[in-house]
Amino acid sequence: MTAFKESITTGIPNEIPQKKDYDLSINHAPKRKDILSADEKKLALKNALRYFPKEQHTFLAEEFAHELNEYGRIYMYRYRPDYEMKARSIEDYPGISLQAKAIMLMIQNNLDYAVAQHPHELITYGGNGGVFQNWAQYLLCMQYLSEMTDEQTLVMYSGHPMGLFPSHKNAPRVVVSNGMMIPNYSKPDDWEKFNALGVTQYGQMTAGSYMYIGPQGIVHGTTITILNAGRKISDDGLAGKLFLTAGLGGMSGAQPKAGNIAGCITVVAEVNPKATITRHSQGWVDEVIEDLDTLATRVKKAKENKEVVSIAFQGNIVEVWEKFLEEDIYVDLGSDQTSLHNPWAGGYYPIGLSFEESNELMVNNPKEFKIKIKETLRRHANAVNKHTSKGTYFFDYGNAFLLEASRSGADVMAQDGIHFKYPSYVQDIMGPMCFDYGFGPFRWVCASGKKEDLDKTDKIACEVLEKLKLDAPKEIQQQMADNIRWIKSANDNQLVVGSQARILYADSIGRIEIAKTFNDAIKEGTIGPIILGRDHHDVSGTDSPYRETSNIYDGSSFTADMAIHNVIGDSFRGATWVSIHNGGGVGWGEVINGGFGMLIDGSEESATKIQSMLHWDVNNGIARRSWARNEEAIFAIKKEMERTPELKVTLPNFVDESIINSMIFKN
Ligand SMILES: NC(=O)c1ccc[n+]([C@@H]2O[C@H](COP(=O)([O-])OP(=O)(O)OC[C@H]3O[C@@H](n4cnc5c(N)ncnc54)[C@H](O)[C@@H]3O)[C@@H](O)[C@H]2O)c1
Repeated sequence: MTAFKESITTGIPNEIPQKKDYDLSINHAPKRKDILSADEKKLALKNALRYFPKEQHTFLAEEFAHELNEYGRIYMYRYRPDYEMKARSIEDYPGISLQAKAIMLMIQNNLDYAVAQHPHELITYGGNGGVFQNWAQYLLCMQYLSEMTDEQTLVMYSGHPMGLFPSHKNAPRVVVSNGMMIPNYSKPDDWEKFNALGVTQYGQMTAGSYMYIGPQGIVHGTTITILNAGRKISDDGLAGKLFLTAGLGGMSGAQPKAGNIAGCITVVAEVNPKATITRHSQGWVDEVIEDLDTLATRVKKAKENKEVVSIAFQGNIVEVWEKFLEEDIYVDLGSDQTSLHNPWAGGYYPIGLSFEESNELMVNNPKEFKIKIKETLRRHANAVNKHTSKGTYFFDYGNAFLLEASRSGADVMAQDGIHFKYPSYVQDIMGPMCFDYGFGPFRWVCASGKKEDLDKTDKIACEVLEKLKLDAPKEIQQQMADNIRWIKSANDNQLVVGSQARILYADSIGRIEIAKTFNDAIKEGTIGPIILGRDHHDVSGTDSPYRETSNIYDGSSFTADMAIHNVIGDSFRGATWVSIHNGGGVGWGEVINGGFGMLIDGSEESATKIQSMLHWDVNNGIARRSWARNEEAIFAIKKEMERTPELKVTLPNFVDESIINSMIFKN
């Protein structure tokens, strides 16, 4: 057995491993809020020591107490494995179950240093999106996966492997829940407290569900968003137009790349120099500029020459919005992708302080930090308002910018006092143009790890879409064309970071046909096994009133039945693993989101599962959207009922507005 396999099957080693230096070359999570009382800290320690035998407690207690005091969490750094953290070929994993091996591959990809935001703290993206809470959980989970059979299911409670339970071949191999709280205990500080206690974690969307494929996953959606935002302002394309936004982190780092693919000038501000360097060295942003005057001159030149270029500004986004006002630089499209789902713990940085000063203030004086954040948000919104009064099209990028700005007293509310002044990208773009028709971020990973498999799957997917486009209704021709264009240039755009993965927006028919054709190719031996999945940010996966379901207007956007049904339904229709999370994308307590992963291996069973699970996974959401009276979804679900006689969905009747308006209610 190789050292790697042996290490996996060992799980938590009997002997306490050597201590590891705190590696300063790695991007680390900020120190977390010191929120626990002395008694609660003792409880956190007691909880952490549950993973280790009694005789090691005296030694480990001291070290874990130090971690808790120093970093606000117990990560158990010492237990970080020595092997390289990356997705390997599925054959390289130890074990009995091919499905379990696929999950190991996906977990390691989420923690790959090239992929993860804070790999040593087991955070994949979004500042606090964890795969596990500590290294003991990682080791134990991998060990369980390496020994389980296809007659067992591993149960994951917010990063903690509760254990293997007898099940059956068609059950999911892993069932994941992250951050499921009693609703009244779902405030941001509850996350701080219960995460510090070691009893829950924030799994983001694809971090704690092992389905992150690096920023590529988001480049496609971002490209679609920028392209369609461009179509909203004019029909003459994006050449020479300026897109201003912020964030070069896990997902936000996709913006400059997407801007280049869409063909505009992109300026992205980023306060963390490490994030800027990472994205620049990966070729995801073309140029880095550190002072505002140089930036203004460069942007003017780019506009004059109608260049397609992406520029990172090393500094605070508010400075850029204000500078462009001063210099009268017209911003065509504006947005923001700082992590405002996590405003008080490093998701958004205040103006007027250096990055280091901000991090210190955040820990040493959280109250003052909060005041500064609110001030910055008000100034931010103020500058945006001045630009939009000149014609800029500004949209909220689902990062809770408008929500947090409004909570900070910024002038972002519409006249009705209920809605925001600006649309979210889902209300204007993704909802009506994609989700309501069932288009969403379908993705796959080549489990062989071979680039040639990815090339072959790109080709297959493109052929399937081209064929489907011939008979597709006119309502979805534009989406089909954008997606074909995307897949044709995906390889040239060098999007792979980590595993050999691809994202491709597709609707129910597209996803099913592509997956079935992959399955045939696996059967013929043309390609190795494939792992199918998607982002939670999809037609059915997520109930999020300010994002995925923000274009649902019947009041049900504050319910979460769809996400729950999605995951329950996927679990008995063939998913290899399912996950349900609290807070993915926009923040703890603000959303419920779910997803799946499915290994296909060329078998008849895989073909059946593809049909049964993917069909539900998409149409569940379309049905809900159609019941909410969304015209596009009504169109899509009616079409699907014609194709699938077993599908019978309750359709809404539309009442005449005059009847409603004739009713008199007391306020
Ligand atoms: N890309 C998408 O399609 C998409 C979709 C929906 C939502 N989002 C949301 O976008 C947000 C960002 O996600 P992420 O994974 O990139 O998070 P991240 O934390 O990895 O990146 C955010 C970056 O913003 C920087 N930043 C914070 N405040 C700043 C400021 N004032 N000026 C300049 N830079 C600042 C941070 O240093 C960080 O690098 C999240 O809230 C996410 O939910 C993204």
